[in-house]
Amino acid sequence: MSGSVTQASGYRESATMTTTFDGPEQPIPRKRDQPSFIDTIVGRRSGLHAILSQVEAVAPTNATVLITGETGTGKEVIARAIHELSPRRSRNLVKLNCAAMPSGLLESELFGHERGAFTGAVASHLGRFALADRGTLFLDEIGDMSLDLQPKLLRVLQEREFEPVGSTRTTRVDVRVVTATNRDLQQMVRDREFREDLYYRLNIFPISLPPLRERKGDIPEFVRYFVQHYADSMDKTIDTIPEETMRFLVRHPWPGNIRELQNYVARGVILSTDGLFNCAPPERSDPLPAEISNPTLEDKVRKEILAACQRANWKLGGPRGAAARLGLKRTTLFYKMKRLGITPPSDSSQD
Ligand SMILES: Nc1ncnc2c1ncn2[C@@H]1O[C@H](COP(=O)(O)OP(=O)(O)OP(=O)(O)O)[C@@H](O)[C@H]1O
Ligand SMILES: [Mg+2]
Repeated sequence: MSGSVTQASGYRESATMTTTFDGPEQPIPRKRDQPSFIDTIVGRRSGLHAILSQVEAVAPTNATVLITGETGTGKEVIARAIHELSPRRSRNLVKLNCAAMPSGLLESELFGHERGAFTGAVASHLGRFALADRGTLFLDEIGDMSLDLQPKLLRVLQEREFEPVGSTRTTRVDVRVVTATNRDLQQMVRDREFREDLYYRLNIFPISLPPLRERKGDIPEFVRYFVQHYADSMDKTIDTIPEETMRFLVRHPWPGNIRELQNYVARGVILSTDGLFNCAPPERSDPLPAEISNPTLEDKVRKEILAACQRANWKLGGPRGAAARLGLKRTTLFYKMKRLGITPPSDSSQD
């Protein structure tokens, strides 16, 4: 098959329709003249059709949604779709990634803090719940939220009120919460790493995203879409995807799912000349190009974990260990280190 690249290029990572947060920025008002986000979702008429029907059913309600799926399967895309199809779409979609954030910092990010609430709190700070008032709050990697913070989240979900850190003033909010994780929360409940009551409260409407290897039929559409997207952004014209290339891309298992495929295609576009999409068959453990894999938050988290480990002499557990310093369970820290590729020096004892 020699595919002409005719995919519409509406979907953009810059999230112009909604506001997401990984850092301390302020919300940007939603622009009204953008193409519909839903129309730009690849696979909406094929592999994602059933999922998008679930999204359409739950979006107009205020129900809490728990999105599960392996890394890179599109959990954040689905969270945005829920917001965009909800009556809250003219308000903010606020995102917070709970991964590896020490619980003190996460608490103040969620609920805000008063000036002087802790060392370094030189000004008061509005939390994500307040920023998401009348909109949607997307809590990513919810499985990484520490046990001591979980009851505080449960309370705001049940009573719609909270107190900013260091304040006695109760704030009431109207926030729709969508959460996502690639961890097995049920197993975490069994292991007593996640509160059962919070799990049931979050799991009111679960949506589970299949890995890309189980929806291979969507791969050609994704490839055409990403080729067009990156060709546009790099000011290139690519009009032919060789049949052989498409065949090996469809055969590959893509353990990093859509994100891995996307990054792979981006690299191919960089190397392409003469209108022909040029990429070599992928190997299994292909590293992601740093400039495309959004290293900022991950880098910060890696730095923070490394610093805590070094301060604790690579002792992870115990009251003075790195896990305690970060406000994390030892097993959670261990999991994060593994995911971030942090390995202790060979002469350290880690207990
Ligand atoms: N249906 C889709 N159409 C177009 N692009 C998609 C689709 N699903 C995912 N993507 C793209 O794939 C990448 C990964 O998606 P997303 O960030 O939503 O995955 P995730 O499940 O949240 O991953 P992680 O668990 O690593 O956070 C993003 O760049 C996103 O834009
Ligand atoms: Mg995500």
